[in-house]
Amino acid sequence: MWYKIFNMKYEDMLKFAEEVSHNAYAPYSKFPVGACVLAESGKVYTGCNFENSSYGMTICAERNAVGNAIANGEKKIRAVAIYSPRMKNCMPCGACRQVLSEFQSDEGLDVILQEENGIKVVPLKVLLPDCFEL
Ligand code: THU
Repeated sequence: MWYKIFNMKYEDMLKFAEEVSHNAYAPYSKFPVGACVLAESGKVYTGCNFENSSYGMTICAERNAVGNAIANGEKKIRAVAIYSPRMKNCMPCGACRQVLSEFQSDEGLDVILQEENGIKVVPLKVLLPDCFEL
């Protein structure tokens, strides 16, 4: 699913992330997560985590959302919102930070998190300084 809304607000992206978290397939961890990425085109793409009985095959919500954007022809990502009904401030895991870094726009990539009251925005470069790049 993608949406194009002009002047997309980070709060709205968190709402999309919340909505898609309801589709998570997380029977093992019982920890649903939703993510919404904002691409340079202005479109947003959502993804949720989906687990596997072979636990290591699990795909996080963020990587699912990035894959959705790439499959729809996007090249760069400006921001990602992450939401879990189980946890405020649900941070992206290390693997997802590396995957997000591959597609960050020249202006960087904002990571948008749900706090108790309001939102928090952290630049990916703060969460993953000196990342591996070829
Ligand atoms: N998970 C995500 O989808 N994104 C995160 O940022 C953290 C972890 C998922 C993976 C697994 O399905 C469940 O949450 C528990 O680790």
